[in-house]
Amino acid sequence: MKIGILSSGGDCPGINATIRGVGKTAIMHYGMEVIGIHNGFSGILKKDTEEFTERSLSGILNLGGTILGTSREKAFRKLIKKDVDGQASIIKQNYEELSLDCIVCIGGNGTQKTANLLSEIGLNIIGVPKTIDNDVWGTDVSFGFNTAVNIATDSIDRLHSTASSHKRVMVVEVMGHKAGWIALHAGMAGGADVILLPELGYDIEKVNEAILDRAHRGKPYSIVVIAEGLQTPDGRRPADYITSAIEEGTGIETRETVLGYTQRGGSPSPFDRNLATRLGGHATELIANKQFGRMVCMKGDHVDSIPLSEVAGKLKIVTPDNELILQGRRMGITFGR
Ligand code: F6P
Repeated sequence: MKIGILSSGGDCPGINATIRGVGKTAIMHYGMEVIGIHNGFSGILKKDTEEFTERSLSGILNLGGTILGTSREKAFRKLIKKDVDGQASIIKQNYEELSLDCIVCIGGNGTQKTANLLSEIGLNIIGVPKTIDNDVWGTDVSFGFNTAVNIATDSIDRLHSTASSHKRVMVVEVMGHKAGWIALHAGMAGGADVILLPELGYDIEKVNEAILDRAHRGKPYSIVVIAEGLQTPDGRRPADYITSAIEEGTGIETRETVLGYTQRGGSPSPFDRNLATRLGGHATELIANKQFGRMVCMKGDHVDSIPLSEVAGKLKIVTPDNELILQGRRMGITFGR
């Protein structure tokens, strides 16, 4: 068999470990041919590819980013089924001209949606979930998330000492798109006093009361971890709005930190390397068994797979009954309501 691998959407630590997991299993265990497709789905449209060997897949396990390049190419997302713009024909033709038996699509929600469309027009596709946001539906966890939480937690740890020295409130905005997974996990691991998630919303009066209450109890500083997906009344960036609302409401000097892209840069954690390796290996196993149109996933501690059609268009978000939230509330952490 001959397979292609592509990465699409925002990059994230662990993509190269996945490429290696898919590719080395394919070459060494199943004797398949493997090519890399450059820059996401645009690489299939342009037939922009490279051949992989066992050797070219060495030394990339701990590398951040993606050796294949990536893009947020969405050109055929809506029109491909009717082939209004002829893209479906080009993709099918290129797939055949490259003699591919399957394409492994490594990516987040948008990628899995496109992967499902390609599967529906008759291509053999396997999806691998990838995102620091942990919001891909159908898998308990995606690689990149653990690394991002480690980076964000380390930053929150560092903000504690400066917050306490200056008796300030520190507002830290973390990534997560529309979901609050990074804010919840890094906030709890970093000992935050207030954690605000898009899924729960917030009442700024309650946030200010909690901060003032801490000050009255002899703790004149606070750490507030907020998700980038929070809504604000005036459309301002969450860190900006929450910081000024706290300073005005409490009279305590308040500073903001936006962690940004550091959260998805650099080397994957050991947990993410092993997760990516297992998901990648399972993707190749599905191909060898001709079980196409599926996304590999984690169910508890086990690697598994589900139909791409079940994943497409859904989002996995934090629910109010999350055990970390319940435990946080029992320890006096404020979740904004
Ligand atoms: O999905 C990963 C992510 O890093 C989000 O957390 C963030 O909102 C977004 O990508 C930023 O992406 P871009 O690369 O388009 O700026």
